[in-house]
Amino acid sequence: MVGKLKKKGNTIITAALPYANADLHLGHITSTYLPADILYRYLKLTGRTAVHVCASDDYGTPILIAAEKEGVKPSDYVAERNKRFKEDLSSLKIEYDIFDQTSSAENAKFVQYFFTKLNENRYVYVADVDQFYCEYDKKFLPDRYVKGTCPYCGTKDQYSDGCENCGRTFGPTQILDPHCAICGRTPVFKKSTHYFFKLSAFAAKLERWLRSNKNLQPEPRNYVLNWIKDGLQDWDISRDIDWGVPIPLEEAKGKVLYGWFDNHLCYITSSLKQAKKSGKAGVRYWNGSTIYHFIGKDIVYHHYLFLPSMRIGEGEYKLPDFIPTRGYLLIQGRKISKSRNWVINVRDFVQWYPADYLRFYLTRITPYAQTDLNFDWDEFREKINNELVANVGNFVYRALVFVKNKHGYVVPRRTAPGREERSMLTSLKRTATETASLVEEGHYDRALKSTLEFSTKCNQYFQHGAPWEGRRDEPRTIHYSCNFVASLSILLHPFLPSSSEEAWRQLGFIRPIAKYGWEAAKTLNVKSAQRIREPKPLFRKVEEAEISRRKEALPSGGTEISVA
Ligand code: MF3
Ligand code: ZN
Repeated sequence: MVGKLKKKGNTIITAALPYANADLHLGHITSTYLPADILYRYLKLTGRTAVHVCASDDYGTPILIAAEKEGVKPSDYVAERNKRFKEDLSSLKIEYDIFDQTSSAENAKFVQYFFTKLNENRYVYVADVDQFYCEYDKKFLPDRYVKGTCPYCGTKDQYSDGCENCGRTFGPTQILDPHCAICGRTPVFKKSTHYFFKLSAFAAKLERWLRSNKNLQPEPRNYVLNWIKDGLQDWDISRDIDWGVPIPLEEAKGKVLYGWFDNHLCYITSSLKQAKKSGKAGVRYWNGSTIYHFIGKDIVYHHYLFLPSMRIGEGEYKLPDFIPTRGYLLIQGRKISKSRNWVINVRDFVQWYPADYLRFYLTRITPYAQTDLNFDWDEFREKINNELVANVGNFVYRALVFVKNKHGYVVPRRTAPGREERSMLTSLKRTATETASLVEEGHYDRALKSTLEFSTKCNQYFQHGAPWEGRRDEPRTIHYSCNFVASLSILLHPFLPSSSEEAWRQLGFIRPIAKYGWEAAKTLNVKSAQRIREPKPLFRKVEEAEISRRKEALPSGGTEISVA
């Protein structure tokens, strides 16, 4: 069992910062951005204060190389990418209080402060290391500036930090047949002074934290504890390039900090920047909040070891309370690969389907765990048609159309609940409580399922009440049905922000769902004689033919055989 969040106080929610050199795809959304947004929306709906922060991860050699290739200044390049991220995320109704840049002046200042403090606390040391150097370009060639052959599986054209084919990572000096990624010439070795962060010094403290923080998921906790047992390596935190936060030391001219030193500090920079707008500031604000860092499982090492060590070493800013970690998304059963075009970008998806379809499907298939997930077009269609359309959409539309046709757009007056209504109201209260506690435990998939089960009951209630037979209790069935539509809209709001608001609007409410809040779901919000608006179906069916087209848009018509 993982912990629950507190009933009071501020919550800071961060989502892993996307590298500013590629468009967002469904994998990012599934593991990180959507879960974070569901929690954010839920908390606000319950009346708690929460801030949701993210930023583009601007530094690092891949980004510098991409900018050079396009012939633009790196700062212009990342500004453009940052804009695209914001567009993509808001097209999925994923909202932030602040969507920042790691390359901001505020972050640089904070990062330099952190470095200085770690240095004073003796967690930084220098050592001379052999680095690739291109005599033609007169440049050190860190990380992605060198390409060559994988020393493990022999695949050509791999970057010096790891192999895309076999998935292994390695140090730069291990790559075979190295050549400069800029000019193609063979680089030489040259000594350079590098700065190291003493990660190894934190083993005992990290272990204590990992064991005492009961909010952490058991899976990552256990494998991180094993990594500690195997021994922690110190981290080379400097790079000989000029795109990054300069190391604030006289003798470190021309050196910047490694991207993984500065990027996660932007979680703090951006949160404090946001807090400042409402007059709160500094470390007390951070330490007084419940902190969530949402991530995908590929960056567990960085968030469970490196990030906490840096904070412990600095000594003031508290460690995360929660690090919700989720698995990789496969597309049609295969690993996402950008180079082979086996990917679905957010930009494309939103041209095809409304955001809520994606939010619904991804939430349904994504547990609070590290397991890999699969985006399957047939299953997508099946879930949309059988659950979203046939269950939720059907109930909402039937109830509203009945009000329109039989009652001239006016909801019948409320009368005392009968036996059926009392049982429905009990079930509604139970659902609202259960959905809430599942969300608070991180189980968004089960939370949504719980609300869907109530929606199934609503359909049964309507069917059983058979209002079309014109019996004496017909107005009561319709009145309560309208109220159940309202409650469903509230409960679905964190998951399906657009369509829930639309159902709410059709019910005739003027003020948005947010003004009513989560607890209102347990009460009767639709009044006697409330006037509804024109009913329109919330969702439409996804046809088989469309799905075939979607599959065909993938390489080899979606049947590509992966070469292991
Ligand atoms: N850019 C990194 C990645 O995509 C994630 C950075 S998360 C951070 O893997 F905040 F810690 F910076
Ligand atoms: Zn070169």
